[in-house]
Amino acid sequence: MRRKLVAGNWKLNGTLAGVERLAEGIRAGAQTVSAADIVVCPTFVHIPKVAGLLADTSVAWGAQDVSDQDEGAYTGEVAAPMLVELGCRYAIVGHSERRILYGEDDALVARKFLAARRAGLIPILCVGELLDERESGITEQVVGRQLDAVLEAAGETGLAGSVIAYEPVWAIGTGRTGGPEQAQEVHAFIRARIAARDGTIAERIRILHGGSVKGSNAAELFAMEDVDGGLIGGASLKAEEFLTICRAAS
Ligand code: PGA
Repeated sequence: MRRKLVAGNWKLNGTLAGVERLAEGIRAGAQTVSAADIVVCPTFVHIPKVAGLLADTSVAWGAQDVSDQDEGAYTGEVAAPMLVELGCRYAIVGHSERRILYGEDDALVARKFLAARRAGLIPILCVGELLDERESGITEQVVGRQLDAVLEAAGETGLAGSVIAYEPVWAIGTGRTGGPEQAQEVHAFIRARIAARDGTIAERIRILHGGSVKGSNAAELFAMEDVDGGLIGGASLKAEEFLTICRAAS
């Protein structure tokens, strides 16, 4: 039985005061969520604040991205060991906004995945197709390619214990979802692709769903066999809505 995980991706949002209010709201309601793991991913600069507020709770925190390098002359980067020092447990890698807006390719995403692992972070590896890729019927090809890049670099044992997030790009921030059955199809495909290498690792790995997941549709998505929780953007910015999603996973 895989324990569900709900991850909030706060993206480039929040002031110090706003982030404090949000973390306090989640902190206050988190005890009502017992059967799911919760993690929030603020911007890098807000991590210390959030860490202080959530330190004695069951809510974990993580980063939205991580450098592929551990240290050195890489201006502007943030390394995985630095995140570990701030108590981060997770790091999102390969979010579609990083891939599309900042040109991250499969090879860089794989290196980031490895860097997170080296430091002991749990990577949340994002995969997902663009709208025209879905319409051309190549969703599995695209998602398979994104997954294989990491599988080749890390091996199936390197994938074990990490988290995958399937986020169709056309569903992110659009309010549009393909519905639970369509989600399940791709989640099952991802699990089968890992199972082709190692059945036990595939059975244990958590595959989150992302893209316009909210309080009103979370329960039906999380009820699907291969959907093990969610990666939540917009709806994670309001404590009550985020907690509703967390409870739907319980
Ligand atoms: P959304 O974003 O929930 O706002 O669609 C999800 C994500 O980008 O991870």
